[in-house]
Amino acid sequence: MYTIGIDLGTSTMKLLLVEETGEILNSAVEEYPLLFPHPGWSEQEPKEWWGALISGVTDLLTGFDAKKVAGIGVGGQMHGLVTLDAHDNVIRPAILWNDGRTAEETEWLNTEIGKERLSAYTGNIAFAGFTAPKILWMQKHEPEHFAKIDKIMLPKDYLNYRLTGVHACDFSDASGMLLLDVQHRCWSKEMLAICGVKETQLPKLFESYEVIGTILPEVAKTLGLPETVKVVAGAGDNAAAAVGTGTVGNGACNISLGTSGTIFISSEAFGVDPMNGLHAFAHADGTWHLMGCMLSAASCNKWFCEEILKTTDFPAEQVGMERNLGENRVFFLPYLMGERSPINDTDARGAFVGLSLDTTRRDTVQAVLEGVAFAIRDSFEVAKAIGVEIPRSKLCGGGAKSPVWRKILCNVLNIPLDLPQTEQGPGMGGAMLAMVGAGRYPDVVTCAKELVHVKETLLPDPALAAKYEEKYQIFRKIYPSLKAFYKECKA
Ligand code: XUL
Repeated sequence: MYTIGIDLGTSTMKLLLVEETGEILNSAVEEYPLLFPHPGWSEQEPKEWWGALISGVTDLLTGFDAKKVAGIGVGGQMHGLVTLDAHDNVIRPAILWNDGRTAEETEWLNTEIGKERLSAYTGNIAFAGFTAPKILWMQKHEPEHFAKIDKIMLPKDYLNYRLTGVHACDFSDASGMLLLDVQHRCWSKEMLAICGVKETQLPKLFESYEVIGTILPEVAKTLGLPETVKVVAGAGDNAAAAVGTGTVGNGACNISLGTSGTIFISSEAFGVDPMNGLHAFAHADGTWHLMGCMLSAASCNKWFCEEILKTTDFPAEQVGMERNLGENRVFFLPYLMGERSPINDTDARGAFVGLSLDTTRRDTVQAVLEGVAFAIRDSFEVAKAIGVEIPRSKLCGGGAKSPVWRKILCNVLNIPLDLPQTEQGPGMGGAMLAMVGAGRYPDVVTCAKELVHVKETLLPDPALAAKYEEKYQIFRKIYPSLKAFYKECKA
């Protein structure tokens, strides 16, 4: 039996054909454009995702027996607002998770409705990237679009809808809408009223591993798959990555260095960070998690190398860096799209601090990698401050391919980092959820225990960790001293 796991990412879709033993038989990658129609805005056309799915699945199945495919599971970029009219036409491009246009709506929710009430209704406060502020933005700025809304969905749910015709969402992804009562796993009537949304416009809720339907006959024909293929509800990409890296059970942690950077702590009980710096979301295995999310992680390195240094050879930029770890006097703030966790500031931007005439090109690249690691540490510190123990963590995402970046992160956090056999967490998680849905495994935890294996563990070096401790104490003073300036820059 095979399943297909799909990672609907921000710049690419990654697809995996996975054997029930966990072996990856084939993979495919499809790219699509990311649109920045205004500074700080970030959009994508849902039809690009669907096109990517069709060509990706076709590539994936070439040379394999499509009749053996039993299920599909998608892990998708979270929070994006996709709206459909009564004829199932997409009303406007999707507004993505890293879009910062909703500063006013976010502020209104957090002050007028108030953080306490929001947190009581949903377990979370408002962040600009969440879906509810985007709905309020659309209501105010595009009333003609808002009036046409028949269905509201998240990015991966658009794919599931095209696959099955079922308007569905899972609890992990729905958590990031600020419309879900995360603790009780149901829509919050209060939040729906605040946002002017009717429950009939929202998807039906499922656990991530539950089957929402089988693929439509015309889709089966297009994809060359049997009509019996089951589609599970899937998950937000971070919960899917957690499944794919075996981050299940109390206190298990996964760090993802993708376009965004996240720290994900699994928990069998529902719990809220009293300061709401970390998100309190549902997990894809039926439990919950706390998560810190930085908006630009691997994308900082990609931007710096490609746009500024004009190279796509990232490893070449890291040659010799290992000898200079802990010695860099240049710092980088990675807030290229504003920042979510823990500072919640849409105005924040990137900055290099400490440049001098003897700064080398390599120092600046190193500062970018270190800045991302320090910003992950910021969320790690929030978790520690509320008593969450994180003795070790899994690591996945494109950035995890860089040995030097892994070493930096391991020493900045000063904990062991376990590298699973595949760094493609969300795709693997999607495939595993589909295996549970197809009945091959009884539950997500059993599936993760049987299929996920650690290939290498990185241990911190006490001397280097001590150097990075000093550097981190400097790093954490930089943003507070620039905060007021960012507001002025925007004005
Ligand atoms: C999580 C978040 C990001 C996106 C990126 O809250 O916004 O990790 O899911 O894909």
